Amino acid sequence: MYQVPKLTDYSAAALDKAVADLSAALEQECAAVSNEAEWKALRDRWMARKSGVLTQVNDLWLKAAPGEAKREVGRRVNELRAHVENDVVTVQERMAGRTGTGLATEGVDISLPGIRRAIGARHPVLQALDDVISVFKAMGYSVEEGPEVETDYYNFEALNFPPNHPARDTQDTIFLAGQESKPSRDRLLLRTHTSPVQIRTMQKYPPPVRVVCPGKVHRHDTPDASHSPLFHQVEGLAVDTNITFCDLKGTLDHAMKALFGSSVKTRFYPSFFPFTEPSADVQISCPFCGGKGCRTCKQSGWIELLGCGMVDPNVFEFVRDNGYDPAKISGFAFGMGADRVAMLRYGIDDIQLLFQGDVRFLEQFV
Ligand code: PHE
Repeated sequence: MYQVPKLTDYSAAALDKAVADLSAALEQECAAVSNEAEWKALRDRWMARKSGVLTQVNDLWLKAAPGEAKREVGRRVNELRAHVENDVVTVQERMAGRTGTGLATEGVDISLPGIRRAIGARHPVLQALDDVISVFKAMGYSVEEGPEVETDYYNFEALNFPPNHPARDTQDTIFLAGQESKPSRDRLLLRTHTSPVQIRTMQKYPPPVRVVCPGKVHRHDTPDASHSPLFHQVEGLAVDTNITFCDLKGTLDHAMKALFGSSVKTRFYPSFFPFTEPSADVQISCPFCGGKGCRTCKQSGWIELLGCGMVDPNVFEFVRDNGYDPAKISGFAFGMGADRVAMLRYGIDDIQLLFQGDVRFLEQFV
């Protein structure tokens, strides 16, 4: 049987010969293996850590080599190692095929059901947006969308926030930098609410209109359990002849009951928005405690969900050309926080959870 020789000559030719002898021996021994026990013996003889052929090669050839030959010997020894390991594995596969274990049984059984890839699901905020939209669709509303990057004109001016009006300060606007040379109404910003879609809708369609407008909005807010610099709103706008505050109340009361259950009550609280007059904040009786007072409603029994009001005649002036004569028509508008709706519907107590993208959280809503 092959024995690893000691080397005295480290010339390239002598090294090549030593490698060739070893390879020939390996080939012969591999070919002779005919069962699993023989394969194990082969493996141990060539690869055993303590005294396998590879270890001997390492000791007798590489360690013993003079300094200037080490590089060349090292390279050949590495190649031999890969060669031996590869051949030994090949023999193992040959044995496994023969004895019926291993590869043959590892083969694919195509009659088994496949592995199903998990498909995505709607994000809870999207579900909430869709739910709000379908409540209004059932009342004859259609859906409009507007850009997230808005001009000052649509986000503020046409909504009756004059330049430098203090009401702008409540919106913590994120403006795009470097626009000082533009007139103020053309400057771009991340929309702070979905209300600009009211103007875009009225420019596009003459009255009557009934639309809901879902989308992302941005404010320069520090994130905490109830604030996020990015959140979602659904805007609503209804304009026609003889639209009154009663229509607004009835519509929102119905929507809140459809979303949170028929026992939910609504309350309209005086408020201010430049683009509605009169304006109100709408609160619903706390769906968790039924109005008795709990942690979610901060013991008040009520939860604030949206702003609304009758469209201010000054807003119609900006779209008068398209048939919006404030002497002939009237309308109401509302804006609802969709993240809020999702949190209330699913009992989520931290808005940040909605935006962290943690699959363990999200898969609960599949
Ligand atoms: N746009 C207002 C906000 O973001 C909400 C609102 C919409 C109020 C429509 C009245 C009418 O706070």
